[in-house]
Order: sequence, then structure tokens, then C-alpha cells
Amino acid sequence: MSDPRLAIIPSRFDKVKRIIAVSSGKGGVGKSMVAVALALSLRGRGKSVGLLDLDFTSPSTHVILGVEGLVPHEERGITPPIAHGLAYMSIVHYSSDQPVPLRGADASNAIIELLAITRWEALDYLIIDMPPGIGDATLDMLRLIPRIEFLVVTTPSRLAYESVRKLLVLLIDQRIPILGVVENMAMSRTGYIEAETAKTGARLLGAVDFDASVEAAIGDPERLEKTRFYKQVAEIGARL
Ligand SMILES: Nc1ncnc2c1ncn2[C@@H]1O[C@H](COP(=O)(O)OP(=O)(O)O)[C@@H](O)[C@H]1O
Ligand SMILES: [Mg+2]
Repeated sequence: MSDPRLAIIPSRFDKVKRIIAVSSGKGGVGKSMVAVALALSLRGRGKSVGLLDLDFTSPSTHVILGVEGLVPHEERGITPPIAHGLAYMSIVHYSSDQPVPLRGADASNAIIELLAITRWEALDYLIIDMPPGIGDATLDMLRLIPRIEFLVVTTPSRLAYESVRKLLVLLIDQRIPILGVVENMAMSRTGYIEAETAKTGARLLGAVDFDASVEAAIGDPERLEKTRFYKQVAEIGARL
């Protein structure tokens, strides 16, 4: 018998205009930082914005936002609590920061459950902080989330880009829209990522420099908004 939740999921996103997945080949390249800065900057421009943390293994957007103890409101599904003006959903609302060690099928099940119960209100943008790579979780999301568009984060390193290239090839092969690639933690303009990205047919959306002031702004969105990092992400967001 087919899973009835699968039929519900697309309708949960009916009122969301654009769904942007912030993704990468690897962890540690700045997905979560970029996802939060992007969401806050779009909100700052007067858009209605949601943030969905689907990195169940290493959820971290709540740490960047500096929020804890948020409780979703339950009523024929659940309504995301508001954090810094964002409709904000994360596994952390349920796991209270304990590890969530899930094997393949259980991980899929948890993602399906979260997507099936969450009721997104009218949003201009829903930003999704994705798990890294092209594992089961990412494949599930490609299958389950309607109208998903990808913003792919890499660092200037060939090691980061090599895994990003695989993600880009997969997305192109599956005909999933790619907004483009963001080169994060750039230290100089080498042109390497731009040239490599162009070879796949995707484009570089922009570079975000390494910014030593970012670390101290984790947990403090008002401080984050004053960083060069945030301004550069916001410029990219304004062009989406
Ligand atoms: N542009 C940047 N400048 C300096 N540090 C950054 C920048 N982008 C991300 N970081 C730092 O890099 C680390 C990894 O970022 P994170 O967003 O957790 O990556 P991911 O979600 O891809 O695993 C964090 O410590 C974060 O503060
Ligand atoms: Mg992350």
C-alpha cells in the first residue's frame, strides 16, 4: 500500500511561492550560514520567509539564530514557530539537541513525517538548509518537495568543488532547476570555481569572502547582519 503521507506533502507547499534548497557536496562549506543569512536578508527586504532545517544529522540553524525551546503549534498538522521573523522548522524542535541517529529507511521516514505534518503559510520564499551530498536524504527531497530550486555552496577548494560537481551533474540529469553556485569563504579571485561551474552549464551566482567576524556572530542574528559575510549573501539573495 502506498504511504498516504506522500500524497499530502506537495499540498503543504501550495502557498509557498519559491522553495530554495541551499545544498553542497560536503559539510563544512557554509550551507547553514548561507541559508540563515539568505533567509534573514530576504526577510529584511520585506519578504515573507520560512526556514526549514533538513540536515537531521547536524542541524545547526537554531545555533546560528540563537533560538532554543521553540514549540511548533499543533492543529491538524503543525505550524512552524517564528524565529527572528522567519517561519522556522527544524528537527531540533522535537529532538531538543539530542543526537538523532537514523539509518536509511528511518531517516527517510523522519523527513517524510516532517514534510507531511508541517503547514507552511503563504511565503515568498522557503529556504531549506539541506544535508550535504547526494545521499538518501537529498534524493528523498528531490522526489518529495515540489518546485525545488537549488543554490549550491562550495568553497574555493578543488576538494569541495569535486563533490559539488557530482551534485550539479545529478541535478542537471534529474532536470532540477539550479539557481547557481555560491563560492563561499573565498580568499582571492582565482576564477577556478567560476570556470569549472560554467563547464557543467550552471553559473556562479557570486563569491562570499572569508570573514573572520562570522564566528562571533553565531547565535546573534543582529550581529550577523552587520558582517561583510551577510551583506555579500544579501546581494546574492537580491538577485535571485
Ligand atoms: N564566509 C565565511 N567566512 C568565515 N567563516 C565561515 C564563512 N562561511 C561559513 N563559515 C564558518 O564555516 C563553518 C562551517 O559552516 P556551516 O554553515 O556550518 O557549514 P555546513 O552547513 O555546510 O556544514 C562554520 O564555523 C561557519 O561559521
Ligand atoms: Mg550545516
